[in-house]
Amino acid sequence: MDDDTILEVKDLTTHYLTTDGEVKALDDATFSLDRGASIGIAGESGCGKSTLAFSLLNQVQPPGQIMSGSINLDGIEVTDLSESEAREKIRWKKVSMVFQGAMEIMTPVYSVGHQMKEPLKYHKGITGEKAREICERYLELVNLEGAIFDRYPHELSGGQKQRVIIATALLLEPNLVILDEPTTALDVVVEARIMNDLKRLRRELDISMIFITHDLSILAEVSDNLAIMYAGWIVEFGEAYDIYKDPKHPYTEKLMAAIPDIRTDIERLEYIPGVPPNLVNPPSGCRFHPRCHKAMEVCKEMEPEIHEVDGVNVKCHLYSEDESIAESQEAEYDTAYEDEAAAEAYEGEEGKRELDETGMTETEDEVMEE
Ligand SMILES: Nc1ncnc2c1ncn2[C@@H]1O[C@H](COP(=O)(O)OP(=O)(O)OP(=O)(O)O)[C@@H](O)[C@H]1O
Ligand code: SF4
Ligand SMILES: [Mg+2]
Repeated sequence: MDDDTILEVKDLTTHYLTTDGEVKALDDATFSLDRGASIGIAGESGCGKSTLAFSLLNQVQPPGQIMSGSINLDGIEVTDLSESEAREKIRWKKVSMVFQGAMEIMTPVYSVGHQMKEPLKYHKGITGEKAREICERYLELVNLEGAIFDRYPHELSGGQKQRVIIATALLLEPNLVILDEPTTALDVVVEARIMNDLKRLRRELDISMIFITHDLSILAEVSDNLAIMYAGWIVEFGEAYDIYKDPKHPYTEKLMAAIPDIRTDIERLEYIPGVPPNLVNPPSGCRFHPRCHKAMEVCKEMEPEIHEVDGVNVKCHLYSEDESIAESQEAEYDTAYEDEAAAEAYEGEEGKRELDETGMTETEDEVMEE
């Protein structure tokens, strides 16, 4: 790993060993992140985004377990660390995380300041006035008044709470901050402001960031690189600009098409028929094959390798150099597109359905009526 790289992840595999079977939440994740750069991770609910984040901190809770692979964080092999070593050597100091839904679990009985000071006391032995001074400085950095230090969580708006959580994650000046759905519960205006602040902080403090969200549209502004996840796999990884401009993986293509654009007329919203699979028993071959509009016969049988296409890594048979794979015949098995309504919605002009005033498609209306 060279000096410019802060994080190198290779073949990282994390499963949950449940009584119902082994949940293959993350398989063979491989990517790296440069110092001061950012990665956006996107994918539908349940695809393994948070599992990846917890794995990077070596903080996967039972029944979850890192099964194999390596995580090199600034020269430290994270998977070798015991729980106490991870707490002592990496968490907060080298990597901190804004947990999904963190603002909902701020303790209501303690003031903001009391909660913010904890990591300073635990990791650096800083208390009293000095701790207050540092906390206030970071509150101001995230565009809050220092006086928030003495307030209680119930006195703050959702956006203010989330800014407090972000300020706390930055307190010990980590090299890397992971933000798991940092703005999901907030309205779009507050979301945009916080994302802009994060962009500024990344530059000012020279930290690397990993943003996790199921919403691709908000990642465009803040990510240098993108990782698209599906069913425990990173299916596409590369520079964000390249992927937005020309998505290579059929799943990424569909996710991009599902981003509403208020500047153009939307006659219908694209969506991907079917649902993500149960990861105890994921589909054979390519895990996306039951929902893929480009599926081939080979996709049902054989797991795709990762192919580099124009600098982007894509896990899909379409880019195989083996001609017998890349030119495999169209799938003869039924995919979700064989579903009549889904096919209509996908197939263009004739299948287009107007959105009614509620913004719902007919299918959604019908479901609601039922
Ligand atoms: N504690 C657990 N025990 C068993 N299975 C789990 C556990 N936590 C997560 N999983 C499973 O692991 C898979 C990945 O979950 P994960 O929370 O990482 O997804 P996610 O992409 O973060 O989803 P979301 O967008 O909803 O936050 C899912 O199938 C989920 O059901
Ligand atoms: S491997 Fe096959 S099923 Fe999977 S994304 Fe590529 S074309 Fe679709
Ligand atoms: Mg999650």
